[in-house]
Amino acid sequence: MRLLGPADTEAFAQLDLDIFGVEAWPAGVIAEQLATNRIVAYGVDSTSSSPGEDGTGTVIEGGAGRLDAAAILALGIEAELLTISVRPERRREGLATRLITQLLTHAGKAEACFLEVRASDRGARSLYEGLGFVEVGRRKRYYRDDDAVVMRKELRKHLGNTDLA
Ligand SMILES: CC(C)(COP(=O)(O)OP(=O)(O)OC[C@H]1O[C@@H](n2cnc3c(N)ncnc32)[C@H](O)[C@@H]1OP(=O)(O)O)[C@@H](O)C(=O)NCCC(=O)NCCS
Repeated sequence: MRLLGPADTEAFAQLDLDIFGVEAWPAGVIAEQLATNRIVAYGVDSTSSSPGEDGTGTVIEGGAGRLDAAAILALGIEAELLTISVRPERRREGLATRLITQLLTHAGKAEACFLEVRASDRGARSLYEGLGFVEVGRRKRYYRDDDAVVMRKELRKHLGNTDLA
């Protein structure tokens, strides 16, 4: 797992397209996201044979390869998980859990982290619940064919006590 930057735009856009199809972000949006310091992004380089490898299974450094998983967190008083995706053949290995956990170490002074998830996406919702996110609202028909569930994770629960101590 490593931090992603502007050099990873193409690999990120390919992953996004492979996973989200017509709902994928345009490459220009991904380029903008990966270039700003208002977000932090992490990814997992592909372990399977791909153009980003040297033929021996060793991933070539430098961001030109293929990503198996990636996620972006928007920073601020309220952090927001903007996107996360893991290729089907790499699911249930704990990659999403590791990505989110790592991203949240960058949340700084954020009081909470929010995200939106398709109401019908039981898998993603149980991933988030396992990480301590709780449902705080719903956006009716947020997606063309589904409601969005808004989830929140408290990040500074004990701050008041700690500060006063
Ligand atoms: C949702 C997604 C990111 C999960 O990635 P992942 O790397 O497989 O997740 P993890 O391995 O960290 O899963 C951790 C836990 O979450 C839960 N979970 C994850 N996927 C699940 C599924 N499909 N069904 C039920 N529970 C699931 C399980 O409790 C799992 O623990 P377990 O494997 O020990 O049972 C991945 O399935 C994905 O990319 N889906 C398509 C894109 C997407 O929906 N993104 C989220 C949009 S909001």
